[in-house]
This record gives sequence, C-alpha cells and structure tokens, in this order.
Amino acid sequence: MNTIDLKDTYLKFFESKGHKIIPSAPIIPENDPTCLFNTAGMQPLVPYLKGEPHPEGTRLADVQKCFRTNDLDSIGDTTHHTFFEMLGNWSLGDYFKKESIGWSYELLTKYLNIPVEKLAVTVFKGNEIVPADTESAEIWKSLGIKEERIAFLGEENNWWPNMELLGPCGPDTEIFYWRSEENVPEKFDPEDENWVEIWNNVFMQYNHEEGGKFTPLKNKNVDTGLGVERVTAILEGYTDNYKSSVWKDVIERIEEISNLSYDDENNTRSMRIIADHIRAIVMISGDEAGIRPSNTDQGYILRRLIRRMIRYAKKLNIDINSDWEQELAKLIINKYAKYYNELEKNKNSILE
Ligand code: SER
Repeated sequence: MNTIDLKDTYLKFFESKGHKIIPSAPIIPENDPTCLFNTAGMQPLVPYLKGEPHPEGTRLADVQKCFRTNDLDSIGDTTHHTFFEMLGNWSLGDYFKKESIGWSYELLTKYLNIPVEKLAVTVFKGNEIVPADTESAEIWKSLGIKEERIAFLGEENNWWPNMELLGPCGPDTEIFYWRSEENVPEKFDPEDENWVEIWNNVFMQYNHEEGGKFTPLKNKNVDTGLGVERVTAILEGYTDNYKSSVWKDVIERIEEISNLSYDDENNTRSMRIIADHIRAIVMISGDEAGIRPSNTDQGYILRRLIRRMIRYAKKLNIDINSDWEQELAKLIINKYAKYYNELEKNKNSILE
C-alpha cells in the first residue's frame, strides 16, 4: 500500500465510523501567536477540545500538515523529518477509550494488514495525580494483545502533551510496530529501538489550569495521531523512510540532477536533507500566511532551511544557478496539491 492509499484508507475508514473529514488547518497557526507552526493535528482543534462546539460535529478526522524544528539536527537519518503529515481522528465528547482503541486495532490489522504479532502498546502507569490506565490495558487485552506486549510507563512517555503544559491533556496509549528483520521478541521492550511508535491515542480528560490544578474537562475527548511517513515505510517494508513512496520520486530526481547515486553512502545524507527541506520549504511558503524568508519567526526558519538545503546541494556538486530547486518544488506541489490545494494556488510565489 503506498502513501496515497494509506491516507485514503484511513480517512475512508473513519468516515465509515461516522467521522466528518475536515481539511488540514494551515501549517502556520491562525489564532495562536505562542506557536510558530502547527506541530500536531490537535493543535488547531484546541478550542473544541476545551468544549466549544465544532461546526462539523463531534467526530472528526483529517490529514494535517505539521512542522517541528526540534528534530532539525537529526534530519539525514532514516526516520526524522521537519515537515510531516499526521493522520488523526477526534472524538469531541463523543466516543472514548473502547471505540478509539478498537478502531485503531481494526484499521491496523484488517485494513492495513499489519500482523498483530508485530504490535505492542504502552499505557499510563499512573502518578500521584492520576491513576494507572488499566482500562486501556484491559481493552487491548480483550482485542488479543498479549500481556507481555503491554508496557505501563510514566508521564514522560504516556501523558500528552506533558504534565507541565497548560490546557487540555490526558493519558495516552501508544502503538508500536516491530520494524526489523529479526524475529519479534515475545516480550515488548520499549527501550529497544526496533520497536517504533506508529500511532498515539490520547484520552484528553483534564484541563491543566494555571496554579497546577488538573480539572476534568467538560467533555472527554480522544485525540489520535498517526505518522504518515513512518507507517508508509512500514507498509512498504522499508527501514529507510526515503525509500518509500513518500520520497522515492524526489530522491530519484535529486539523483538525476546531481548525477550521483543515493545508495553511495557519500551522498545519502545530503540527499535526504535536500528532500526533507525542499518539501518543508514548499509547505511553509505555500501556506496561506504568505511566509517569505526573513530574519524573524517563520521567515527565519524558512531562510535557514533554504540555506541548509543549498549547502548540501553544493556538497553534491549540483549547479546551484540552475533551476534545480524549482524542479524539485514542482514535483512536491504536484504530489500534494490533492490534499492541500493552496499549493496549486500559490505555486508561482512558491517557485519565486
Ligand atoms: N497529539 C498527539 C500527538 O501529537 C496525538 O495526536 O502525538
């Protein structure tokens, strides 16, 4: 299953479970001056998670454009990206743990055909404020996840966003996949890097208020996030995200432009950085906010990405006075315009 089919299957599945498919919010937050970028699908939905009625109802799903700068120095490895897409489904005071976990299990095992033997989960082990989430563990067990594949972890792993941040929050259950050629161990060890997190289901039931109080939210919500790049690679059997259908054509074009091979390890990292950054550059400059390279805020990040991309292009001896970056940008625009039609609309300014 390629990356387009993954997105379509996910959205259709949740539509069949009564969800309204909403468009991605802009990558630049519209009403939140405290954040430069949307970093998760739930961010634009915060007012509704706090109780404001959403015009589309209480069950929503989408694919959201996300951008995180905290991983910038890891870009060039097999799994990290600055821009990424997050598939998400939400219950705004509607269904809760049983349905959420049940549907995640159904989608992964029946529609994406992931063998249950390759799955493991974590749940919240509790602290002095909130008790352990044994309810989620029991639901997983009832679906067939063995006890030794369920790990109870603390707030640093199974609380979202974290205990310090104010706003809607709660315990989460994270789903892991065994991404290795080696045999799957019986017992789940969350420290073993062959287990990669693929989906996070947050059970948002508290509002962390100023002064440290955790008050129950008016509505109990569900907020989930599944990483498109990672899951695409898994479904296609790659341990390198850049080999998957998300990136294959982009990497091939960089190989053509540079006349070098991705598989030659002298080039791999540079090509990954160029591929990652050109996509992020297109998404940021194609956003309706009209961000341009500058010295401040999002414009500064955009400028940094462009400079960094050019630095790695020079390493590959790409003629930086040719229109190589326009060629790559056009490829990205064509690939993503189906989901984010502002890219087509803002094509000229992106290319400029
Ligand atoms: N908000 C959670 C995350 O970003 C689940 O969507 O992982």
